[in-house]
Amino acid sequence: MTLIDGKALADKMAVALKTKVDALKTAGVTPGLVVVLVGENPASQVYVRNKERRATAAGFNSEVIRLAEDTSEADLLSLIDKLNADEKWHGILVQLPLPAHISEEKVLLEISPDKDVDGFHPINMGRLWSGNPLMIPSTPAGIMVMLEEYGVDVSGKTAVVIGRSNIVGKPMAQMLLDKNATVTIAHSKTKNLPELAKTADILVVAIGRGNFVTADFVKPGAVVIDVGMNRDDNGKLIGDVKFDEVAPIASLITPVPGGVGPMTITMLMEQTYEAAKRQLD
Ligand code: GUN
Repeated sequence: MTLIDGKALADKMAVALKTKVDALKTAGVTPGLVVVLVGENPASQVYVRNKERRATAAGFNSEVIRLAEDTSEADLLSLIDKLNADEKWHGILVQLPLPAHISEEKVLLEISPDKDVDGFHPINMGRLWSGNPLMIPSTPAGIMVMLEEYGVDVSGKTAVVIGRSNIVGKPMAQMLLDKNATVTIAHSKTKNLPELAKTADILVVAIGRGNFVTADFVKPGAVVIDVGMNRDDNGKLIGDVKFDEVAPIASLITPVPGGVGPMTITMLMEQTYEAAKRQLD
């Protein structure tokens, strides 16, 4: 079994990114990432702080706009319009979840597809599915980079993705399909899930339930990617995969923490950089 070290890969890419950013700045463009956070969700505050720290370290212009929980939908939409029009920002990210009185759909539609670093706008989701991607969701994008880095040839492989969210499961399936895998998307209503999962050469788990995938889900020699971020009863961060049980039978596996997580922010930075570079075209 080989551990896929997402942290080490993210650190390596951060060094390379800094060099690319310095060159772009010399050419007159500084990448800019603006994050909008509405309310006080504690997990969101941690994510947003990490994004800001990484953007600053990469040499980006970086700003977090923190809005009160009771901000109106209209005010948020007009802020997004302003950010869309501001050349300083190449990436706009509105942290989810939003308070219940604000429509997530309306907000995601308002962000210019050219600045939608999350890749959540329907235009970007449609572009990905039609084979002409522009901005793509960071978590599955990071997984594709990890697979490539560790020499996993996806073509012709059987892949099972457990989880069908717009953020991970669906775009993950499309990215694997685009590299010629045979892909099945499984979910909470799937029958005989362990048997199905056991057909996978590449198993991606994004179901959001701690230690859900046990050894009986995994074909010996499979590549296992764990997107889960759950807390156990002691508050410890655990994945969706029961690591101690699955690791001995996998050929490659991502740990939690230190696997998929660090690569997600890395891809957000890479996409902001790419968007900034397009400003020169
Ligand atoms: N909340 C949890 N993950 C994400 C993400 O990738 N993007 C945004 N915008 N919000 C999130």
